[in-house]
Amino acid sequence: MNRLLPTVSLCIGMILPASVIQAAVDYETEIKPLLRQHCISCHGVAKQEAELRLDAGVLILEGGSKPVVIPGNSEESELFQRISSGDKSVRMPPEGSPLTTREIELLKNWIEAGAVFPAEEVFSRSPHEHWAFQPISNPELPEINCNEWSQNPIDRFVYAKYQAEGIEPSDRASSSVLLRRVHLDLTGLPPTIQEQDQFAEKADLNKVISELLSRPEYGERWARHWLDVVRYADTNGYERDAEKPFVWRYRDYAIKSLNDDKPFDQFVLEQLAGDELPDRTLETMIATGYLRLGHWADEPADPKTDRYDQLDDIISTTGQAFLGLTIGCARCHDHKFEPISSKDYYSFLAVFNPLERPREGRTEKTVNFEGTEVYAWNETSPAPNPTFLLKRGSPSNLGEQVEPAVPGVLVDQQPEFPSAGDETCRRRLGLANWMISQENPLTARVIVNRVWQQHFGEGIVSTANDFGVMGAAPSNPELLDWLSYWFIHDADWSLKKLHALMLSSRSWQSLKSPTSINRYRRLEVEAIRDSMLFVSGSLNPKRFGPGVKPPIPLAAIEANTDKGSVWQVSEPEETMRRSIYVLIKRGLIVPMFESLDLADTVSSCPKRQITTIAPQALTMFNGQLTQQLASSFAERLRAEAGSDPARQIQLAWQLSLSHHPSDSELEQMTQFLEKESLEELCRVIFNLNEFYYPE
Ligand code: HEC
Ligand code: HEC
Repeated sequence: MNRLLPTVSLCIGMILPASVIQAAVDYETEIKPLLRQHCISCHGVAKQEAELRLDAGVLILEGGSKPVVIPGNSEESELFQRISSGDKSVRMPPEGSPLTTREIELLKNWIEAGAVFPAEEVFSRSPHEHWAFQPISNPELPEINCNEWSQNPIDRFVYAKYQAEGIEPSDRASSSVLLRRVHLDLTGLPPTIQEQDQFAEKADLNKVISELLSRPEYGERWARHWLDVVRYADTNGYERDAEKPFVWRYRDYAIKSLNDDKPFDQFVLEQLAGDELPDRTLETMIATGYLRLGHWADEPADPKTDRYDQLDDIISTTGQAFLGLTIGCARCHDHKFEPISSKDYYSFLAVFNPLERPREGRTEKTVNFEGTEVYAWNETSPAPNPTFLLKRGSPSNLGEQVEPAVPGVLVDQQPEFPSAGDETCRRRLGLANWMISQENPLTARVIVNRVWQQHFGEGIVSTANDFGVMGAAPSNPELLDWLSYWFIHDADWSLKKLHALMLSSRSWQSLKSPTSINRYRRLEVEAIRDSMLFVSGSLNPKRFGPGVKPPIPLAAIEANTDKGSVWQVSEPEETMRRSIYVLIKRGLIVPMFESLDLADTVSSCPKRQITTIAPQALTMFNGQLTQQLASSFAERLRAEAGSDPARQIQLAWQLSLSHHPSDSELEQMTQFLEKESLEELCRVIFNLNEFYYPE
């Protein structure tokens, strides 16, 4: 066989030269995911059986004690021999089912075609070298030769990257597009006609940005993003799915904190240890409701395991939400992919282990300080019981005793935990203080990236909850570090300053996003519903308080044994409030929210999914809310534009889509109104693609 021009027979019987095969097997999209899925739990950065790593092209070629891949020669390559062997004692992977014929073919073809991989592949020799575990650097701003892009630091990094990659920057979006974008982005509501007119007269975007940031609607929009991350819901889930008493105070706390521009480091402290702060207040106590947002059964079959399940909920969420780490994977075995051991997991658990969930039988109790009921866990003694490592995650299989600690890979030296206070052991305070300290490189990077993701469609790190070795590499590491450093040192952890910096950049004002091919993500269901309420003139601006139950279709509760009481609809005007106030019942999500991709309510959600499914059309076209709001919208149009169809269409377009209709739109809609009612037109508008997208 000609080694220089290896051949392979395809099912169609043609013989193709290697160059074609090479094009057909792509390392990044085919080989790497395959090895990730089947091999790197044992041959990756966390663990290297036979001293072999298969998580980067260079490392694959280096092999273990000997080379395992000989480019161009699969038969002689040990890697190929191992995956294709019929001998179970030799075959890789050693456990579970062997690779499929197709997977074996892929690896064979890749080797035959020369085992090519991209030269710039990023990987770490040791877990300690992983980029996200390094201190946050303060990179120099790149020098660029473009005046328009050199005003804002973000743009200098973005433009420098464009130049390096030969990418043509996209045009600035039109001012009417920008106005709609900034309103929806910051408040989740479109601009009013008056705001559109003012902006058309004088397009001062920075002024609009700061004005919107000072509106209460900003907190109502952005708190929802945070609620996604902390798995917020109003009920416990499982069989009984009981309501969590007063949990909405935590939701309101999040809204108020954002509106007050509470520094993010303080926000972290309060949620993890608000009860342990020397200057604690009712507000910081409410903040610790964060710890109790999880789901659980009221009458668990196995209380011991249940206890650890609930601690796991806190540990897993805290790891992902604040650190971007999947610590939860180390509960039953050392993390297979990340440098996090089971001992790390249980040392982290020791921080939260002193917490108790106040209850009597299956009745949830609240903590009562100064006459206000607070929904939180509490510590009943400053001297907690010892914590043990649980072998294989089993509560009946105790290993060594562990002390509170943060994951070892993140620190050279463990932070010092404060000594116990009068009421609590103050371990959470120790953890929270470390989290917001300069010693920890993750908290600032993770939140800065979340804010970027929301504004630009995709994060600089596309896996917002995973900054570990298995997470995505940052698309612009210098920019992420510059922003994180700036956020801590210049902005004093102010999210509003961070928003203003991002939104005033040319990068954000461009037609395209620098990190996402698809900037124009569909609006979240909350923003869609709130926009419908807003443009139809039906929005009830009332803020805060217990969750609201809007009407839902009978079909949604028909199967419930207690269908008479499971969902008692609120007063009509209450149901017209913003979506963040709608009750999230884990076992019965409002169908409109469910079909339009509400966040998972069980675990931390880094990014909303965007699905396109049939029930969306049914809800949005025939749903009761659409019908009702379409008729309110029509009434409003008649009241404000009179009976002239052209004026009605003009007004409808401006209110709902933030621009005038084009001539052809006007003509089409005028024809539509000759046959159909104004209500029908409004229903159509609520179903336009344009209504669902910020632009
Ligand atoms: C559950 C752990 C595990 C998984 C998963 C696993 N391996 Fe291994 N691998 C081992 C162990 C243990 C050895 C050393 C013992 C041996 O040689 O059989 C080894 C050895 C090897 C060797 C020989 C290295 C040398 O220098 O002798 C190759 C090649 C190899 N594995 C490839 C793979 C490939 C390819 C995959 C995925 C398809 C894979 N392994 C998945 C555990 C694993
Ligand atoms: C509730 C216990 C538990 C948790 C939590 C858990 N695992 Fe496992 N996992 C197991 C058990 C049991 C096995 C099989 C025995 C073994 O390999 O230790 C296993 C095996 C694996 C294997 C295959 C074995 C190998 O070496 O290739 C991988 C990969 C893995 N787990 C990854 C994960 C990841 C990633 C997470 C977090 C998302 C996770 N596990 C969380 C219990 C758990």
